[in-house]
Amino acid sequence: MRVLMTGSEGYIGAVMRDVLADAGHEVVGLDTGYFEGCDFGDPPTPIPLIKRDLREVEATDFEGFDAVAHLAALSNDPLGNLAPGVTEAINTNGSIRVAEKAKEAGVPRFLFASSCSLYGQGAALGLTEEAEPNPQTPYAHSKIDFERALQAMADDNFSPVYLRNATAYGVSPRLRFDIVVNNLCGWAWTTGKIQMSSDGTPWRPLVHIRDISRAFLCALEAPKDVIHNQAFNVGSSKNNVQIRDIAFKVQKQMPECEVTFGNSDGDNRTYNVDFTKIETKLPGFGEAQISVDDAITEFLDAFKRLSTKEEDFQSRLYTRLKQINHLRSEGRLSDDLVWL
Ligand SMILES: NC(=O)c1ccc[n+]([C@@H]2O[C@H](COP(=O)([O-])OP(=O)(O)OC[C@H]3O[C@@H](n4cnc5c(N)ncnc54)[C@H](O)[C@@H]3O)[C@@H](O)[C@H]2O)c1
Repeated sequence: MRVLMTGSEGYIGAVMRDVLADAGHEVVGLDTGYFEGCDFGDPPTPIPLIKRDLREVEATDFEGFDAVAHLAALSNDPLGNLAPGVTEAINTNGSIRVAEKAKEAGVPRFLFASSCSLYGQGAALGLTEEAEPNPQTPYAHSKIDFERALQAMADDNFSPVYLRNATAYGVSPRLRFDIVVNNLCGWAWTTGKIQMSSDGTPWRPLVHIRDISRAFLCALEAPKDVIHNQAFNVGSSKNNVQIRDIAFKVQKQMPECEVTFGNSDGDNRTYNVDFTKIETKLPGFGEAQISVDDAITEFLDAFKRLSTKEEDFQSRLYTRLKQINHLRSEGRLSDDLVWL
């Protein structure tokens, strides 16, 4: 199949392109390039790229594609809080434009990278896809708002599917240290310490970026009736963990690392999610394959190979907010994150 992947140049897209290509699909990227040159080791495998802001896409960009994998977004809470309205302008309204233009061009399948963060502060353990969303941040709001817009667009010729990813982890050529597993591995390796300001009790569902990529592959290849207008939580019941457990898992593989906790810092994002639907209903997915322990091993190998230092860990290259603020302070991006 020919797949147009928005956000292809980001953390997940840099890995998903290989998973789809290895399965025989042809991938074309579309990305505005906020993280151009922010490589960790070798750059991502080259693919044809439409360099464009998603707020400016046209139907002609989507002609001839069998599916869109829509990943482009301001993709975490700190970025989502950057400036009022920008997250809504890109993640909600820009995404609606992407879906409308894709539909107009006759693309039959639309895979959306949604997020488990839309469950927000889950009162119960084991939130299923039927649980009432309780978004706590502009980022989480943007995910449920766009899902709802897509639901209204679903018809015989247009099948959206909402892949609600858990918090991602794992090594990528466009690495991020602003997500929890990667961040704790980075602290431990470069400073020998994990100092948590919180008590580490909030729950997080986690998933490796290659398992996210496999979920997209399965949704791309599944019969239409299985995925049409369906939400799937993407993760693993084995990977619903409390943040303190991640710190201890890192310490197990780096025994010299010191782990300390503070008091709760008021982070009210805690959610514990059920993954039965993806495990039983999405053909070919089965269970998530790459555990947090496997990923920690993968990080240690990469850090050794690339001699990663604290200045690399702290650099703008791998923290989304720092890179975006760098581009703004250099006068290259406007406050609306439009190239100047
Ligand atoms: N990383 C996670 O933990 C996680 C978890 C759940 C869901 N998701 C979702 O998965 C998707 C991919 O996440 P990621 O971690 O790879 O993010 P990322 O920030 O690493 O990459 C996002 C990419 O989108 C591009 N982009 C942003 N705004 C754009 C615009 N206006 N026009 C064109 N391109 C634009 C950026 O240049 C970047 O290359 C996002 O939608 C994110 O919300 C990520």
